[in-house]
Amino acid sequence: MATSTGRAPQKTAKTATPAMRQFHEIKAQAEDAILFFRMGDFYEMFYDDALKASRALELTLTSRQKDPSGAAIPMCGIPYHAADTYVGRLIRRGFKVAICDQVEDAKEAKGVVRREIVRIVTPSTYLHQGYLEAKEPSYLMAVSSTKSAAGAALVDLSTGDFVAFEFEGDDRWQKIAETLSTYRPREILYPEGKSLPDDIFAQWGPEGDAPITTERDNWRFEHEASRSLLLRQFATQSLEGFGLESKPLAVGAAGAALQYLQETQRGELTHISGIRCLEEADYLILDPVTQRNLELTHSLSEGGRSGSLIDVLDHTTTSMGARTLKSWLTRPLVDIEAIGRRLDAVEELAFDVIQRAKIRDTLKDVLDLERLLARVTLGSAGPRDFVGLQTSLSKMPALRGLTAEANAVLLRELNEALDPVEEVRDDIERTLVSEPPIGLKDGGAIREHVSEELDELRRLRSEGKSTLTEIEKRERARTGITSLKIRFNKVFGYYLEVTKSKLDAVPDDYIRKQTLVGAERYITPELKEYEEKILGAEDRIQVIERELFEALNQRVRSHAPRIRATARAVAVLDVLAGLAEVATTANLTKPRLHNGFEIDVKDGRHPVIEATSQEPFVPNDIALDENRYVVILTGPNMGGKSTYLRQTALIVLMAQMGSFVPAAEAKLPIVDRIFTRVGASDNLFRGRSTFMVEMQETAHILHHATPKSLILLDEIGRGTATYDGLSLAWSVVEHIATEAKLKSKTIFATHYHELTDLAAELPGVVNFHVSAREWQDEIVFLRKVLEGGSDRSYGIQVARLAGLPPSLIRRAQEILLNLEKTEFDLEGRPRVTGESSLGSGARQMSLFADAEDRVVSELRRVEPETMTPLEALQLLTELKEQLDAME
Ligand SMILES: Nc1ncnc2c1ncn2[C@@H]1O[C@H](COP(=O)(O)OP(=O)(O)O)[C@@H](O)[C@H]1O
Ligand SMILES: [Mg+2]
Repeated sequence: MATSTGRAPQKTAKTATPAMRQFHEIKAQAEDAILFFRMGDFYEMFYDDALKASRALELTLTSRQKDPSGAAIPMCGIPYHAADTYVGRLIRRGFKVAICDQVEDAKEAKGVVRREIVRIVTPSTYLHQGYLEAKEPSYLMAVSSTKSAAGAALVDLSTGDFVAFEFEGDDRWQKIAETLSTYRPREILYPEGKSLPDDIFAQWGPEGDAPITTERDNWRFEHEASRSLLLRQFATQSLEGFGLESKPLAVGAAGAALQYLQETQRGELTHISGIRCLEEADYLILDPVTQRNLELTHSLSEGGRSGSLIDVLDHTTTSMGARTLKSWLTRPLVDIEAIGRRLDAVEELAFDVIQRAKIRDTLKDVLDLERLLARVTLGSAGPRDFVGLQTSLSKMPALRGLTAEANAVLLRELNEALDPVEEVRDDIERTLVSEPPIGLKDGGAIREHVSEELDELRRLRSEGKSTLTEIEKRERARTGITSLKIRFNKVFGYYLEVTKSKLDAVPDDYIRKQTLVGAERYITPELKEYEEKILGAEDRIQVIERELFEALNQRVRSHAPRIRATARAVAVLDVLAGLAEVATTANLTKPRLHNGFEIDVKDGRHPVIEATSQEPFVPNDIALDENRYVVILTGPNMGGKSTYLRQTALIVLMAQMGSFVPAAEAKLPIVDRIFTRVGASDNLFRGRSTFMVEMQETAHILHHATPKSLILLDEIGRGTATYDGLSLAWSVVEHIATEAKLKSKTIFATHYHELTDLAAELPGVVNFHVSAREWQDEIVFLRKVLEGGSDRSYGIQVARLAGLPPSLIRRAQEILLNLEKTEFDLEGRPRVTGESSLGSGARQMSLFADAEDRVVSELRRVEPETMTPLEALQLLTELKEQLDAME
């Protein structure tokens, strides 16, 4: 017997059954998707699709029939009503699903029933509530490029948010990578043959699945066609208003994205009513590595939201607000006026406790208007979605009232923008009952007095039902069978049921239909007459309810842009109220921003560590200006260096997103970019050499930083041998401090104490250290950042704290002593920085230091809490062996 390969054999399709012929035709329209082919109450999958789906969904693979060549056709199926769950599971595994339904009544079909693809579901376009995360957007991205420029567009079908970019120059792909990591799309479209550079996902990070990529025909990215498509979608004459007329690649990408949505959704997309062209210069740029290092939306250690800045800042009450907060956080502003407007609004809401409480309380009753609207325009909204829309819109007058007296400009603007869209609200209220069933099919969603015909049919139906009750009573009396019942099922319709013991009393005019173990079922002509009336009315009621519902949907849809504007206003109000809430509860201050250089923070704190640590947080100042802008920060391991770096970045970032900041006072400059680099092994997951990564990242900083940037370097240079690392670290600091187009505010945390000598040599460089005290061979962290360099790194004391065996600690102390004897000259200056630094002594030492370095850096890297005792023992033996080999 021939076995099928699983691929649909095209040439034999002609001789296949009519249904299979239809399958092949439709399958050809969705080659890259798994086709859900509706057959009665099931969605069936055939050939390759069946093989893939049965594996992914753990379904039983069967074969339905033989194809004309005699091979069995692999097949599997799922019940249609469970489709959403299965679709969700396939999407999560990176598949696309084409849903093919029967689009005519099987009873009326001549020949094979007509079927069509009604929707293609992909990771970025699956809007099922169980799949979408309320607080996360769901973007589709399209990328288009030439030899010298690249354009990108991102659209969130679930909210209608649509943005575009165009980048020129050598670092265009870096900028696309940055965009990618800010928006984290679920799916990316690119033109045929122009696949994305391999390393574009290098900075994606371990959290969350990488997006699926889909190749599309080149013409779909073509500028003119895309432009006309966008003009039609937005019903405008030009793209000037969106700032896109001079950006052909951005337009091409936007057109390709929109076209993909139209193709997959096969419905109207009225909620996508505009696009924003984002200019890089409008935002504080945070490259992907910085976003991750600062733990803005994910914590590095746990990978989840908990432990991230957003987790601490998010006091929003709506999902729209939560999503907007996230976009503010990942794209802080640089326009001092715009930031000021946000800060003034937060200040007013922070001050007015009662007003804020009322606003937040009212917001709790506002549902996700953006996503409700998306479901309405895509035709997947049920009656309850409409009622949700109505009750949410009906909160707008209250929110308007609560913001009516506001002084802050932004709050006054929002007050204007909180449009209750009364027409929609009233229309829904007039049309639907206040607590409708989930599905329209369940009936009863439409109110009384909406349609006379509907009311009449419902009356008939209920009369019919009460007549049945009458009949039941009458028959009981007539036959004397008190247990006689009229019941209904789908097979027989209405019937009379009599228990076995009463069969003698059954009259002759009952017609027997079915015998059960304990009872008999009968019908009568009279019963069937009423049944026809009732069921006839029932059918007609369903038709009318659907028509009325569709009409309502159309009317609501026509107001989509207004509803969307209201949703945006609600989201912003929610973010502001949430930021005001956290400003009060976390004791934050309003920052003072200026366009100059100087940064002056009194008693700054790390918002996340403060909120999560058991230890009381020790606040620290930071003051940088034109005369001192590069800080060399030394101090013991675990002393608080990284924390100090990060808190400085977070304070700057929070201020520019419009939030109050964790400090007693904060005078802050507008920063154009924040760079943070951590020289450690946390990049290892990408499988590149740590040192190489460190150097690439450092190069990136040196090429992009300006005097308006903030650079935070955390132990850069430790991925290589001591002297290499030190020399590089030294020259990096020199470069930043002296190069006129850099001179950026910089904090460099380092374990190279030699670097503290730089302060004496270079203007602009100062030494800070995190204080610690040694007490009976133990280390006490004071966590106060003070001027001057620190003398020791206390590495061994920290190792003791970490629980290394006493014998090893003693040995390390011995080695340290040896090292210190050779490494420092008679004045105690590290030899490396002195004139004789690379003399023979130092050279000989380098090998020795290398081995020890490896041990120390290995120790730095280990996380004892994640190791098994066996692993720990193995490591220890290894380390000991390395040290022993030195002797
Ligand atoms: N100012 C501070 N107040 C309180 N605890 C702090 C402070 N700075 C750091 N810590 C705590 O000390 C730990 C180590 O700090 P970290 O900045 O990682 O040290 P380093 O980078 O110097 O090794 C942090 O996880 C934090 O819990
Ligand atoms: Mg550190």
